[in-house]
Amino acid sequence: MKGIVMVTGAAGGIGAAVVRRLLDDGDRVVGLDADADGLARLGRTVDAARFRGVEIDLRRADAVEAVVAEVEEAWGPIDRLACIAGVLEVGPVTEISDDAVRRVFDVNVLGVLAALRPVGARMAQRGGGSVVTVGSNAGLVPRVGMGAYGASKAAASMLTRSMGLELARSGVRCNVVCAGSTRTPMQVRFQSDVGGDAPVVEGSLESFRTGIPLGRIADPDDVADVVVYLLSDRARHVTLTEVVVDGGASLHG
Ligand SMILES: NC(=O)c1ccc[n+]([C@@H]2O[C@H](COP(=O)([O-])OP(=O)(O)OC[C@H]3O[C@@H](n4cnc5c(N)ncnc54)[C@H](O)[C@@H]3O)[C@@H](O)[C@H]2O)c1
Repeated sequence: MKGIVMVTGAAGGIGAAVVRRLLDDGDRVVGLDADADGLARLGRTVDAARFRGVEIDLRRADAVEAVVAEVEEAWGPIDRLACIAGVLEVGPVTEISDDAVRRVFDVNVLGVLAALRPVGARMAQRGGGSVVTVGSNAGLVPRVGMGAYGASKAAASMLTRSMGLELARSGVRCNVVCAGSTRTPMQVRFQSDVGGDAPVVEGSLESFRTGIPLGRIADPDDVADVVVYLLSDRARHVTLTEVVVDGGASLHG
């Protein structure tokens, strides 16, 4: 599919996998991320004529709006948007600080909204587009130590799907991919706290519900494939859904 796609969190594990898939399909991609080095590393390994990395903090909604306007001026209409940037803070609800909760909500909720709003409005005006937000299975079922993160992911999902309802008649589809444990820098940081793959895959009464029935941690491409499908016209009759890509971990359809 050839078009123009905006991907937030492009320098991260899942974001970079989505960018590569889209470029393989012939799209032009603008990747937003706060990690300038990560964007530069990605940029060196892809077709520079079709990928543009923009260093930006998604908590600055005005700056995101300016990038959207600038990309559309230079390249043309953004027809797909993937909101993938996110941060993880762990801690029990009885102990987590307001500051930690604000940190996850500022990026995972307001940072998603900062992209949804300007891109969604333009898509609606033009009468078409597709949006996917990467949520988490922690936004579907309670996970120990993940109350704030899970709440932020549930909020991002509801914002995305509510926009999808509001814009459905304008031809804009909005879906959510609820990822489970996926081998990315975020997961590596988390696993070093919990002691490696085993408690995640096998399950642990203290920390996790069931482990992962399929018996493995996902690769970023496992999530990217579903994101790219939902973004594409092959999913033209799919909107307002949450697709769970977690190897069965949340026992949630
Ligand atoms: N890895 C997992 O196990 C897992 C599981 C469920 C959901 N997710 C979700 O998948 C998405 C991608 O995560 P990942 O695993 O690839 O993590 P990652 O840490 O590799 O990537 C996240 C990216 O978001 C960027 N980012 C963070 N804050 C930002 C900000 N304020 N402005 C701009 N960019 C910012 C980071 O620089 C990073 O490149 C996240 O939303 C995450 O919550 C991941």
